[in-house]
Amino acid sequence: MDGRAALPDLLAELRALYGRERAAHPAERDFYDAVLAALDGPADRRPARVQKPALALLPAALAAAATGPLAGLAAAFGPVEPALAWTQNPNYSDAKMGDGYMAGYAYADLVGPRGLIASDRVAMGLLILGPQRLYPDHNHPAAELYHVVAGTADWSRDGGAFAAQPPGRRIWHPPWMRHAMRIGAETLLAWYAWVGPVDVAANLVKA
Ligand SMILES: [Fe+2]
Repeated sequence: MDGRAALPDLLAELRALYGRERAAHPAERDFYDAVLAALDGPADRRPARVQKPALALLPAALAAAATGPLAGLAAAFGPVEPALAWTQNPNYSDAKMGDGYMAGYAYADLVGPRGLIASDRVAMGLLILGPQRLYPDHNHPAAELYHVVAGTADWSRDGGAFAAQPPGRRIWHPPWMRHAMRIGAETLLAWYAWVGPVDVAANLVKA
């Protein structure tokens, strides 16, 4: 089955989400405008499907999301998933992140350099981070907006205390602001949007 056939439903969910929020966050209006414009770009890319071990966590996490505030996004994402290329940040490894980390970690661009919609300025997609993992302080030059789709994890921004962020929560990181996630019992699914130099991958912040 061609996941691209389900793309219009996912794009409609995303336009609604970002369109709803745009007026409430005037300081980030340019960010929202860039994201919304990218969603209207030509969906003419056909990346080869690439799977990662973390995909084994996806069905249960999407099922959990079905009772949450972003159920529509989760439901629309599922059918598109087979059209995506899952990847991992080349800066990361089990040696750096902890034994077994990489087996529960993957993300896929819907929009971006590896996305169905090409962009070198905007990236958007889904991050999977499995239970009992710590993604330590890291940063990147692109501005970033996350939405928690499934899983309540502890998040820290700008070196602050970790705080539980349930599904539906919006988490904003300006360029280069360090941030971290500590995953407990529940797989985290987080929808990300980056605007800026999206070809520069995140990297850990040295303590
Ligand atoms: Fe980030």
